[in-house]
Amino acid sequence: MLTADEAAALIQHGQTVGFSGFTPAGATKVIPTAIARRAKAEHDAGRPFQIGVVTGASTGPSLDGELARANAISWRTPYQSDPDLRKRINAGETRFFDMHLSMLPQNVRYGFLGKFSWAILEAADVNHDGAIVLTSSVGATPTFCHVADKILIELNHYHPTSLFGMHDIYEPEDPPNRCALPIYKPSDRAGRPFIKVDPAKIAGIVETNLPDETTAFDPPSEVTRRIGRNVAGFLAAELKRGTMCQGLLPLQSGVGDIANAVLGALGEHPDIPPFEMYTEVIQDSVISLINSGKIKFASGTALTVSQSVLASVYANLTDYRHRLLLRPQEISNQPEIIRRLGLISINTAIETDLFGNVNSTHIMGRNIMNGIGGSGDFTRNAFISIFTCPSTQKGGKISTIVPLVSHADHSEHSVQVIVTEHGVADLRGKDPYERARLIIDHCAHPDFRDSLRRYFEMAKGGHTPQTLSTVFRMHEQFLKNGDMRGVDWTA
Ligand code: COA
Repeated sequence: MLTADEAAALIQHGQTVGFSGFTPAGATKVIPTAIARRAKAEHDAGRPFQIGVVTGASTGPSLDGELARANAISWRTPYQSDPDLRKRINAGETRFFDMHLSMLPQNVRYGFLGKFSWAILEAADVNHDGAIVLTSSVGATPTFCHVADKILIELNHYHPTSLFGMHDIYEPEDPPNRCALPIYKPSDRAGRPFIKVDPAKIAGIVETNLPDETTAFDPPSEVTRRIGRNVAGFLAAELKRGTMCQGLLPLQSGVGDIANAVLGALGEHPDIPPFEMYTEVIQDSVISLINSGKIKFASGTALTVSQSVLASVYANLTDYRHRLLLRPQEISNQPEIIRRLGLISINTAIETDLFGNVNSTHIMGRNIMNGIGGSGDFTRNAFISIFTCPSTQKGGKISTIVPLVSHADHSEHSVQVIVTEHGVADLRGKDPYERARLIIDHCAHPDFRDSLRRYFEMAKGGHTPQTLSTVFRMHEQFLKNGDMRGVDWTA
């Protein structure tokens, strides 16, 4: 057993560390906080101290927040959502590269990200043979344990040892030896319920008893409720049309308030039958729909639920173990499985353009918000790919429907349906002219429709109407005077 400070003292400047955690679920807490203290002490003594930080996705304030504030991160991937870290990244003070989350573990194994000195992970249980039971997420932890020279464990007694059986740990072979991944339905298991490591690699264990640092969701607003109802209505109509011959295909749903509202609306819609989820993050709304019988099974990589919901899951683990499964992100977000199962993907956009290109990551083309996360893994491979967003931001001064996205994450070739609180634009089988008309008429806010139509009329010509000299005029005007309304397209 070690104290957190003793564990932190083992980490050296310049090393790369793979931390557990996918969202705050399952993220380590006391060791990264101790590393941040160490970094501050080293900086005060005039010595450099920074490490490369790799995780499953975002983490909690005790990891990204503490390390960012201590200026202890030299580079970071694959995703983040911490305000202090974001500030440093956008100020050019911390290197960050944004990755598809399914690709992170294999890129680590391929050696694309260099040598990993440490895996630091949270566990519910560990035995003398090196069998580790994870807590509320899996993420990329199995791969970090596999490649790292040494392992440090936060043994967190907040999570019961009876979590054994909730995880399915499977790491695919690397090319040219990779076989088909044996998952044919969301509840299929391919691996074993624990990570197995060489016990000699475990350099120390720090005991804790701390909850995940998850935050509660806002109650649905009128806008997110309408978006949710529009998605539910679209899927109910799709079922009626018969494109899914055996009922609703499994769903993937993104993170955040809109995703919660969408699931709420699916739960309430009388024509949506009980369904399964093969998703990345399991949120509170998934647990309520499991309780009501609307969701039959949910597979994900993180159980990111509020503390009261986690407590109720832990109090009834015997039941939930038949309804929930946590897998490595490489499997939850695996393109092969997404395409095979025919997932319906539902993710949120920052902005979308008249042709269906989507920006999920950057504000005004420049500052990163969080990262692409799993949205690219799912969108590119889904049976139907849906993007939701409110039609405006910042009190109506920003239209999220723009002539051309200021940063492109998902192209018009992968995005099939756009949904705002005003309606649905079904882009399947539509050319760029039809797409633009549908998006303006069904999704744009009424305050921006005429302006977007004027742009479109003036840009007509070619296969994709576009005027390079004015295409970012709405963004430029916002940056100049804080409002996208009333753009003069002629000047
Ligand atoms: N222009 C300028 N600012 C914008 C904007 C736009 N087009 N769209 C959003 N913003 C601002 C909001 O006003 C808000 O600002 P604030 O923090 O000052 O209030 C901020 O960006 C966040 O917007 P919000 O609507 O609250 O975002 P959200 O919590 O619904 O998250 C994404 C939306 C796109 C940022 C989030 O879903 C994300 O990171 N997605 C990428 C990863 C992903 O899809 N993961 C799931 C895959 S499984």
